[in-house]
Amino acid sequence: MRQTDFLVIGSGIAGLTYALKVAEQFPDRKVLVMTKAAADETNTKYAQGGIAVVNDLENDSYEKHIDDTLIAGDGLCNEKVVEIVVKEGPERVNDIIEWGARFDKETDGGYKRGREGGHSEFRILHHKDITGWEMERALLDAVSKQQNIEFIKHCFVIDIITQHHLGYLVTKATPDVECYGVYVLNLETNQIEKILSKITLMATGGNGQVYRTTTNPSIATGDGISMVYRAKGRIENMEFIQFHPTALYEPGVGGQAFLITEAVRGDGGILRNKDGEAFMQRYDERKDLAPRDIVARAIDSEMKRTGTEHVWLDCRHFNKEKFIEHFPNIYQKCLSIGIDVAEHMIPVAPAAHYSCGGIKTDEWGRSSINNLYACGECASTGLHGANRLASNSLLEGLVFAHRCSIDAAEKVNAISFQNNIPDWNAEGTSQPGEMILITQSLKELQLVMSDYVGIVRNDIRLQRASRRLDLLWEETEQLYQTTTVSPQLLELRNMITVGYLIVKGASFRKESRGLHYNTDYTGKSELVQNIVL
Ligand code: FAD
Ligand code: SIN
Repeated sequence: MRQTDFLVIGSGIAGLTYALKVAEQFPDRKVLVMTKAAADETNTKYAQGGIAVVNDLENDSYEKHIDDTLIAGDGLCNEKVVEIVVKEGPERVNDIIEWGARFDKETDGGYKRGREGGHSEFRILHHKDITGWEMERALLDAVSKQQNIEFIKHCFVIDIITQHHLGYLVTKATPDVECYGVYVLNLETNQIEKILSKITLMATGGNGQVYRTTTNPSIATGDGISMVYRAKGRIENMEFIQFHPTALYEPGVGGQAFLITEAVRGDGGILRNKDGEAFMQRYDERKDLAPRDIVARAIDSEMKRTGTEHVWLDCRHFNKEKFIEHFPNIYQKCLSIGIDVAEHMIPVAPAAHYSCGGIKTDEWGRSSINNLYACGECASTGLHGANRLASNSLLEGLVFAHRCSIDAAEKVNAISFQNNIPDWNAEGTSQPGEMILITQSLKELQLVMSDYVGIVRNDIRLQRASRRLDLLWEETEQLYQTTTVSPQLLELRNMITVGYLIVKGASFRKESRGLHYNTDYTGKSELVQNIVL
């Protein structure tokens, strides 16, 4: 059994930023970072477009960034949180620059600023088209230099430990549920260990893998959200799944779809349908740079209308050298499949990209469970409302990691370890006979979610999804009760839980708002509310 003052679950921008902050504040205290995969296998690493931040007050303003965020969020953002993130953002971006992250500069030394959908100004700092890779690199580098941070890879966190594990009945109505630590499956020893912590940060990222096509890597299975829901914590706004309009369409290639960053449209890329028509003007006056929900729905509608599986992104009018300078990774990827962007259009289709909802937190990142914070994509802070503004996620990760660290620092001295936690009970379980029971259920889940709970929804589809998820849940729970746990089984169980939460949220929301579009209720309800489960 291990114990640590600060436990961090996840090694993306949220987890690593927080770890550095608390480690720097408390050089004598121990910070333990755990991840279920390789150190850098995170959504963060794949971020392309960049980080939205106001750092040119002559040409931009906090008010404009705040307004853009609120407009995208379609009435559901928490205005105080939006103001906090936008105004504290510049200082937090300076922190990561100090830790070594490099953003592209003009020849005069000023930062290059890109633009993406929903932004009224050029304010996206970037490192070519691999901004996330650069930020993750800088963070890992800084973490490796911090003596009091221990980093454990390939450790799968299964559940958070609460009073429930001491034999008490814990329900949604129980006041003061407390987090004492976690149970983890060590993937190197195959043993389940318990880790006691005074303060725990959930920074487990998104859940794009719940869908058949996603820009997210395989780690994005909603584990943190599912763990907190099981522990009776509050989860909100799960119905707002953002589909990125332009993932590269590669027939026959499964798993993670390669992203064509929105910054390409920011630089002038034009969406065209099967007939070569630039169709976005028929949907929104902001055309290709309308907020993501509008562009993704427009593409979905064009694909359905013309019976195609993709539309085109036209960059043939770009200056080729400039394209390669800003988007070298995209240029190479396209070339590797026979597309020279100077001569050919890029086939693109929407793919599940970002979870706007998640573990409900307050403005200091506190979840509804004591001593448990949540930060990054797994959290619902109130910043994104019904639709996240492009490139606001990395910024939110930095700002809230800092805020969590401040609040946690004030609390840690008053917390003691809970010592009478039982070991994991694996009684009555045996090795699973067939992996197909897991892999087939995963395929079914992804099909159900993509076909019934995608960009466009209606009540019948949601009811069907709900019934099918019930069956998948029942079968998977039976497997979980009787077999030795594996990462595949744990992820399936978590993804079914997340699917259930998305369907539940979508079924409760009797309106169309932001990313949730239901053809049975195309207008907005007068009752503006978050759906908390
Ligand atoms: P992640 O970076 O996903 O990290 C999650 C961590 O949790 C990982 O280390 C994972 O292994 C670990 N973990 C998960 N479950 C467990 C478990 N059970 N046990 C142990 N560890 C676990 N946002 C922007 O602002 N700008 C962009 O340009 C941008 N581009 C994007 C491009 C792509 C292709 C994608 C996929 C996303 C993009 N986003 C962008 C969104 C943004 O990258 C993510 O929302 C953000 O990086 C999430 O950071 P995070 O720290 O919350 O989670
Ligand atoms: C992109 O580069 O298009 C993704 C930006 C984001 O998801 O914020």
